[in-house]
Amino acid sequence: MAETITLRRPDDWHVHLRDGDMLKAVAGHTARQFGRAIVMPNLVPPVTTVKAASDYRLRIVSATPGADFTPLMTAYLTDQIDADEIARGHAEGVFTAAKLYPAGATTNSEHGVTDIRKIYPVLERMQAIGMPLLVHGEVTDPAVDIFDREAVFLDRVFAPLLADLPGLKVVMEHVTTREGVEFVKAAGPNVAATITPHHLRINRNAIFEGGIRPHFYCLPIAKREDHRLALRRVATSGNPKFFLGTDSAPHSVARKEMACGCAGIFNAPYAMESYATTFDEEGALEKLEGFASEFGARFYGLPLNAGTITLQRKAFAARERFSAGADELVPFHAGQALAWTFVD
Ligand code: NCD
Ligand code: ZN
Repeated sequence: MAETITLRRPDDWHVHLRDGDMLKAVAGHTARQFGRAIVMPNLVPPVTTVKAASDYRLRIVSATPGADFTPLMTAYLTDQIDADEIARGHAEGVFTAAKLYPAGATTNSEHGVTDIRKIYPVLERMQAIGMPLLVHGEVTDPAVDIFDREAVFLDRVFAPLLADLPGLKVVMEHVTTREGVEFVKAAGPNVAATITPHHLRINRNAIFEGGIRPHFYCLPIAKREDHRLALRRVATSGNPKFFLGTDSAPHSVARKEMACGCAGIFNAPYAMESYATTFDEEGALEKLEGFASEFGARFYGLPLNAGTITLQRKAFAARERFSAGADELVPFHAGQALAWTFVD
């Protein structure tokens, strides 16, 4: 059995780096492991202009001094978003992609899109210029059970969208269901999905084990075990439509551990250790490099990274907490042993 593995430097195709003190506390974790990251635009206020995205990019670069790390920026789509602004941002190399949050689906999504047909002119423009649409694939209809919101989104929104705009490049972010996996597999090569470390490791029982566990609460929420197993199978299968996106989403301990706690799992500190442990358990370590370092870049039409990272088969205990300014953060795997250590 391999004792160390060296991979082409991976990329994180979905991360929340936040802003201010939180950005300073979390960005280094992502920059240590990943060459590039697709940075989510759900700040307060959301990143809707080229200027806001290029200013935010500068703040990220200042928060990761000396790191071999390039933040790739995204635009937050709203009902009023201007197609010219999106296309200009893409042409100027500021907006790599645009993110669709159905209004009310998740953290800071209240400015999101209320009906996808309202932004068809923008999506048609994106299709024409080959700009990827990144989708938070959950319906917000309160009549739909929270565990069904992704599967219902496929029928109500995603399938009609692809019928109307068959050439649009779309990433179904943080896929969590067997239905989502099957949908993406069956769609054309312009449709892909990201998979988080946590959805490969926890099912919905983890959220309620011995009491309510706010640090396992994220959106889309973890599903039943058979869905987790479907994600593990496809992630480790070598199918290039499925690639790494952590959805690392830090919230302070105070905002997680409260009567109405925030959704989001902070997995950046041990992201590659977590994925490596999972791929190893599945006997598929040789499939990790494609998933982590190749398929995403190819989908986005970007060059592969030049550097490498090394992981070693050596157990270590994950830290319980990290500080973030005056706040504290609990990482995914807090206090647990991980089988793989990040060397450099
Ligand atoms: C994300 C956040 O906190 O910004 N939360 C989460 O549970 N994943 C938003 C999101 O990606 O849904
Ligand atoms: Zn996210």
